[in-house]
Amino acid sequence: MKLAGKVTLVTGGGRGIGEAICVAYGAEGAAVAVADRDTDGARRVVERIRGAGGTATAVEVDVARSESVDAMVKAVLREHGRIDVLVNNAGVRTIKGFLEHTEEDWNRMLAVNLTGPFLCSKAVLPSMLETGKGKIINLASIASFTGRPARAGYVAAKSGLLGLTRAMAVDMAGRNIHVNAIAPGLIASPFNASFAEAADTGPAWGKETLLGRWGQPEDIAGAAVFLASDDSDFVNGAEIKIDGGWLAAKTRSGELDH
Ligand SMILES: NC(=O)c1ccc[n+]([C@@H]2O[C@H](COP(=O)([O-])OP(=O)(O)OC[C@H]3O[C@@H](n4cnc5c(N)ncnc54)[C@H](O)[C@@H]3O)[C@@H](O)[C@H]2O)c1
Repeated sequence: MKLAGKVTLVTGGGRGIGEAICVAYGAEGAAVAVADRDTDGARRVVERIRGAGGTATAVEVDVARSESVDAMVKAVLREHGRIDVLVNNAGVRTIKGFLEHTEEDWNRMLAVNLTGPFLCSKAVLPSMLETGKGKIINLASIASFTGRPARAGYVAAKSGLLGLTRAMAVDMAGRNIHVNAIAPGLIASPFNASFAEAADTGPAWGKETLLGRWGQPEDIAGAAVFLASDDSDFVNGAEIKIDGGWLAAKTRSGELDH
C-alpha cells in the first residue's frame, strides 16, 4: 500500500473528485480526514471508506473562513496527532459573463478557490514542519491555463492557485515539504452534472478530448495518490494536467477521429 501510516486531509471530500481521492487514499492505507462544509456528504464518504476496511473521520469546514479552518486542523490533530498530506480540493464555480459578475461573485470565487488553499496550507504547515515532511496538493484546473467563457472569477482564482503552488514550493525549499497541483479537465462530477447529462453538451464536450469522453472523478485519484506518496519525492512546484488531452489539442470540429 502506497500511503500506509500517512495521515491525509482532503477538503471538499464529501463528493465528486474529493470523494474519489479520499476513497483511493483509504484503499492505499492512509487515515483519511474527510473535510467538507457538507457534513452529510463527509459522513457518507467516511462510511464508504470504513466499509472497505479503511480508517476515516469526518470534519466540518468552510475553507474560506480562517476560524473554521483552524478548528478543522485542531480536530484532525486531536484525532490523528499529525497531518502528512493536505489536498486543497474544495472549490466552487460561478458561470456568468464578466459584465454580470458582481463583486460578491468575484470575492466568493477568490475566497473559496484561492484563499481557501492559502488558509488550509498555513494551518497545516506547523504540523508538517514539526514532523519534517509533508505533501500539499492543490486542485487547479484547465482554467489555470486558458480563458474560459463566463468564468472570470474562477479562471483568475485557478490561475492564481498555480502561482500559489509554485511560490509555496519555493518558500518551503529545504524543509522537505512539497507543493504540487493537479489540473483536471472535463470531469463528470456533481460540479458538472448539468453539462455531462445535457443532450447538447454531454457527448459533444466529451468528443473534444483526445480520448473522446468525459473524465470520471476516479481518473484523478491515481495522480493524487502518486503526489501524496514517497514515489513523488523529487516532484515539486509542478502540475499534472488530467484532461484527456484537451489542452494539448486545439482541434476544429470533425478533425478528431471519433
Ligand atoms: N469537475 C471538473 O470538471 C473540474 C475541473 C477542473 C477543476 N476542478 C476542481 O476540482 C475540485 C473538485 O471539484 P468537483 O468537481 O469534485 O466539485 P463538486 O462540486 O462535485 O464537489 C466539491 C466539494 O467541495 C465542497 N465545498 C465547496 N465549497 C466549500 C467550502 N467553502 N468549504 C468546504 N467545502 C466546500 C462541496 O460541499 C463539495 O462536497 C474543485 O476545486 C474544482 O474547481 C473540477
